[in-house]
Amino acid sequence: MAYNLLKGKRGIIFGALDENSIAWKTAERVYEEGGRFVLTNAPIAMRMGQINELAKKTESEIVPADATNLEDLKHLVGKSMEVLGGKLDFVLHSIGMSVNVRKGKHYTDQNYDWTYKGWDVSALSFHKTMQVLYHQDAMNEWGSIVALTYMAAQRVFPDYNDMADNKAYLESIARSFGYFFGKERKVRVNTISQSPTPTTAGQGVKGFDGFIAYAEQMSPLGNATALDCANYTVSLFSDLTKRVTLQNLYNDGGFSNMGVSNEVMQAFMKE
Ligand SMILES: NC(=O)c1ccc[n+]([C@@H]2O[C@H](COP(=O)([O-])OP(=O)(O)OC[C@H]3O[C@@H](n4cnc5c(N)ncnc54)[C@H](O)[C@@H]3O)[C@@H](O)[C@H]2O)c1
Repeated sequence: MAYNLLKGKRGIIFGALDENSIAWKTAERVYEEGGRFVLTNAPIAMRMGQINELAKKTESEIVPADATNLEDLKHLVGKSMEVLGGKLDFVLHSIGMSVNVRKGKHYTDQNYDWTYKGWDVSALSFHKTMQVLYHQDAMNEWGSIVALTYMAAQRVFPDYNDMADNKAYLESIARSFGYFFGKERKVRVNTISQSPTPTTAGQGVKGFDGFIAYAEQMSPLGNATALDCANYTVSLFSDLTKRVTLQNLYNDGGFSNMGVSNEVMQAFMKE
């Protein structure tokens, strides 16, 4: 069901790789709600992904950008305003990658070149994106910027590896930059902390099947899907949440406030 919540709004959506991507579902929902946007991803992912199909469906232009590269980001933001015909109302940062996770390097035995790369892609890219938006004065007043995160920023999930640290850094950037964006430009900045979701990035984490099933059993409402996350993001881009900012918002079926559930206890009961 669509409510025209984003009618007349313009933005940029990072990170749609394939139809499982949270950004892909978000692009579809934003489009249904009347928002128009530029799609972007790393040039290397463009060749692999099916982003052209999404662009066609959502009448979007694609502007490739490596989110760690300031020149790419400057071009992306300038070009987006040109293509969309004005300043922006929303930006979704839906980017994550750890080389240590990909290559199976244990948290206690990091390759720090890889750690640095993963931090740049997963966390610092959010600062870079906002700094470029800020310097180009690219956001309209009451605009909204959202990045996606995971609860390993607060609690221990051993196999989440250095991504846990990257997410903690990302959430801190949302607060720190959000202060200046709020004060100077009346722009909101928030992170959504999403349930485990079967996507390319999600399934890259060792033991993913185990912890998605565990989270499902622990959460009174079950895991939030990619579509649930897309809907939550739409609400944060809309005018209905104008004074929600500097927050890390859980979209996780209640998981983050649980101690134990009966379903999980059952697995440990003697009879
Ligand atoms: N899947 C989960 O379980 C889960 C849970 C909580 C949070 N998240 C977060 O959601 C976000 C989206 O991930 P997803 O699960 O949809 O997976 P995904 O693999 O579909 O998306 C990750 C995206 O990051 C992009 N990317 C990687 N390096 C980049 C770069 N240098 N420049 C620009 N883009 C780059 C990839 O091309 C890809 O499109 C990530 O921040 C992820 O950490 C995912």
